[in-house]
Amino acid sequence: MLRVAVITGAARRLGAATARMLHREGFNVVVHCRASLAQAESLVATLNADRAHSAVVLQTDLSSPSALQSFAGQAAGCWGRVDVLVNNASTFYPGSIENVTSEDWEALTASNLRTPFFLVQALLPSLRAARGCVVNMADIHGERGLPGYPVYSIAKAGLVAMTKILARELAPLVRVNAVAPGAILWPEGDMGDTEKQAVLQKVALQRCGREDDIAKAIRYLVLDADYVTGQILTVDGGRLLFS
Ligand SMILES: NC(=O)c1ccc[n+]([C@@H]2O[C@H](COP(=O)([O-])OP(=O)(O)OC[C@H]3O[C@@H](n4cnc5c(N)ncnc54)[C@H](OP(=O)(O)O)[C@@H]3O)[C@@H](O)[C@H]2O)c1
Repeated sequence: MLRVAVITGAARRLGAATARMLHREGFNVVVHCRASLAQAESLVATLNADRAHSAVVLQTDLSSPSALQSFAGQAAGCWGRVDVLVNNASTFYPGSIENVTSEDWEALTASNLRTPFFLVQALLPSLRAARGCVVNMADIHGERGLPGYPVYSIAKAGLVAMTKILARELAPLVRVNAVAPGAILWPEGDMGDTEKQAVLQKVALQRCGREDDIAKAIRYLVLDADYVTGQILTVDGGRLLFS
């Protein structure tokens, strides 16, 4: 039976790993990207080589509400159904309380909180018809704020709250869960070895997670968790065990 998954921010990194995993499990996938079009097209070409007409790219900046609506319409129209929405796209950068601007607030909350909410809203008829599910990509720092990243932490805390309330609002037809990763892939840009070591010292399993650790958690929530909704699955190697 045809099943369709929509994954935002899926050209690279954890989003691409999620798209590959869901495709391997038999889903047709809508690979959303914003700037990384070449990488998204390359991923989709590989997936289509494996199974013809099973993956498409849709490029959109989801921070625009009208673009979001049109993206949702296109995504739902690709194969006429949506079974799974993975809200993965995210903006992540620091900003001290003294220096945060309203533009920073807008950028960080739009990608990490507002867009996931309104994508669920826009895709709700399809998700209900398919008795589908939503997986939100949260962060351990939605539970325990990341120093230097107050707005990002607030947005992810909101995403955690959203996961729980939408699980109630959308039951019994649609399940809503989240994955809260710890240190999986280092952020792009400057992060020195000393800083990385300081993070890893507070990870019980003493290493970064792998893309596959996240993909497997999403696989569980999508395929094997029929009686699970409103849950935040932490995948952090034991980071939250430390202060
Ligand atoms: N990496 C980790 O270790 C880690 C840890 C904790 C939580 N997480 C969460 O897990 C998810 C994936 O992490 P990641 O590190 O793989 O993500 P990422 O590389 O930081 O971002 C994923 C994608 O989001 C897209 N994006 C950003 N702003 C957008 C916007 N306004 N409209 C549309 N797309 C937008 C970008 O697409 P384009 O490249 O196409 O522009 C980007 O490639 C995120 O939600 C992140 O917060 C990750």
